[in-house]
Amino acid sequence: MRIGIYGGSFNPVHNGHIHLAKAAADEFELDRIYLVPSKISPHRSSDEYVPEEDRLEMLRLACEGDGRLCVCDYELKSDRVSYSIYTVEHFRSEYPGSELFLLVGSDMLLSFDKWFRFEDILSQVTLCVVSRQGGDMDELEQKAQELRKFGNILISSSAPLEISSTEIRKKIAKNSNFACYLDENVVQYIRSRELYSLRGERKLNYNTEDKKKFLKEHLSAKRYTHSMNVAAECRRLADKYGEDPDKAYFAGLLHDVCKEMPDDEQRELVISGGFTYCREELETRSLLHALAGAAFIKKEFGVEDIDILNAVRFHTVGRAGMSRLEEIVYLGDLISADRDYKDVDKMRKLAYTSLNAAMLEAFAFSMRSVIKKGGLIPICTAEGYNFYTRLERDEKKQH
Ligand SMILES: [Fe+2]
Ligand SMILES: [Fe+2]
Repeated sequence: MRIGIYGGSFNPVHNGHIHLAKAAADEFELDRIYLVPSKISPHRSSDEYVPEEDRLEMLRLACEGDGRLCVCDYELKSDRVSYSIYTVEHFRSEYPGSELFLLVGSDMLLSFDKWFRFEDILSQVTLCVVSRQGGDMDELEQKAQELRKFGNILISSSAPLEISSTEIRKKIAKNSNFACYLDENVVQYIRSRELYSLRGERKLNYNTEDKKKFLKEHLSAKRYTHSMNVAAECRRLADKYGEDPDKAYFAGLLHDVCKEMPDDEQRELVISGGFTYCREELETRSLLHALAGAAFIKKEFGVEDIDILNAVRFHTVGRAGMSRLEEIVYLGDLISADRDYKDVDKMRKLAYTSLNAAMLEAFAFSMRSVIKKGGLIPICTAEGYNFYTRLERDEKKQH
């Protein structure tokens, strides 16, 4: 068997790591590649530190999709200093008949002859130089040539994905968008365990006084009252469903901030805001203010929290897989005290009974009223409807 060994802190493991592992497995025809998380001394900053079990679990989740990728906790369990030679020897004794390949970055190759017992490492493995970040290829080749008298050295030809764990940790701490850099299950895991100070912004005070003043000046009395009511409703829903009440109040308060802004100003905000949208949203006047609102609070109030931005952005059309906060603002808007449509009481009751059932009903309600008016159904609304229908169906199956 051809076995790869890929060490790193994986704090957290991201798409760049997984890409590199897969590319190496392809290029060097490895049957398996073990990702070996290293020990990290606890940092002072909680933004950086997560328990070892969490790093391990995230690695397991990220490796699930590819049968060649495995996780090895040898270094975490070992009570010796983690020198690579020990890890190599561990693999040598575990897989005596196998050929071993040790993955290292190009920067590591340049200082490889300073590694503890590097000759012994090279006598037991083929060194695979991956993650060539820029650097001088001639210098790399020359170094490889020098070291080849001790063993085999291969240099990968595939380009790395430039992602850094440090940057990701910063994004998580600020709650700005980090999901695109990580495996979906790892994102879920970080969210559920609130790792890397995910809720860092919770410590911030969601200052609403100046926002209220702004709304009062820029909205009609009716719209201002509605905004206050939605904020209060969002706080209650957040209390009920374990979301941050201050954050929910803040998002609810601002959800309609652009509702009465002239169309062309709204359009300008939408276009410059950088949010993706579907065609139906641009074609439907009453939907524009959600996109404009998210762009506005980011630009004017400096709101960076992606969850708050999305809660405002999706409060009209909804979508599949909404976050708890998005659901709360969506429903809060629909059942606030000033609402008086026919089935509002039924909806209020449902919202405090089951979040999923209420979301499904809300999507159905919104689609029915669009159809009645001869309007267009935005794709994300249809997707949201399907999403909550499946959730409800699965829920029923389990009972
Ligand atoms: Fe609205
Ligand atoms: Fe509203």
